[in-house]
Amino acid sequence: MRVVDLDRDMSDVIPTGLTPDSEFLFDQMTEITLNATQAGPGTRVLDVASGVGQDSLSLAERGATVVGAEPSHRMTGMAQLFAEDREGPMPFWVRGWADRLPFDTGSFDACICKGAMDHFDAPDRAIAEMARVTREGGRVVLAIANFESLACRVGRAVDDFRQDTLGWGPVRERRGYDAPSDHFTRYEIDLIRDQASASLKIESVEGVSMGWGMPGWSKTMARLPESASGRAVRWMGRLGRQWPQLSDVIVVVGSPLRSSRTSA
Ligand SMILES: C[S@@+](CC[C@H](N)C(=O)[O-])C[C@H]1O[C@@H](n2cnc3c(N)ncnc32)[C@H](O)[C@@H]1O
Repeated sequence: MRVVDLDRDMSDVIPTGLTPDSEFLFDQMTEITLNATQAGPGTRVLDVASGVGQDSLSLAERGATVVGAEPSHRMTGMAQLFAEDREGPMPFWVRGWADRLPFDTGSFDACICKGAMDHFDAPDRAIAEMARVTREGGRVVLAIANFESLACRVGRAVDDFRQDTLGWGPVRERRGYDAPSDHFTRYEIDLIRDQASASLKIESVEGVSMGWGMPGWSKTMARLPESASGRAVRWMGRLGRQWPQLSDVIVVVGSPLRSSRTSA
């Protein structure tokens, strides 16, 4: 039985006041994911689990024909509200589950799925569907939080030391290295690579940002002068690219592997 909230409203997880490390992470994740689609005039792009639609809108601004597919009425309603005062070509909003996309095989030049696969109850089927609806030679771009990042490892080590050695409680009640209750999957680099390679020929695996959520990191970045925090987060970003297994977010780009089932 599938238990999913069709009125899902994730406005509580959309950051409002951003610290320099959060701003860097969200900006970089968005830029790298959207650039990887190679969206432009004449291209067709599908945004799977489009949420409040900000990426669909950005892709449409680049001139692509964009479809935002999302099961939650409430999220799509918010997307339509955000889009109201925008000018230019709009995305098409479609209601759809990632593991059963309502499109023909090879309908899109590119497909993105950003920050959502850990919410899916059948992510491997979802990747297979994204590969199916993307044309041969097209690109599927998956961006996902890494629960074995440096920040998660440091956070866990600090809590273990506090609890096991000092007998104290964890630094924070919400432990960033534990997947939240609305996540089905706790991703790390080997898992996303394995799941993706069942349906995609992987072209790149890129790490985005490092240190986000590490105990004390955000507060320190917020206190530093802007030029110093900017240098620090960019430097950690370079480390994230160097060691994607320790980065905050992993972006996988691949082209569809065709099987007799998925051939157009
Ligand atoms: C954290 S939001 C990410 C939204 C957007 N991609 C972004 O980057 O802001 C996760 C989204 O996944 C959607 N979702 C959850 N389960 C899904 C499924 N099985 N198929 C498609 N979308 C799903 C939720 O409704 C929600 O809008």
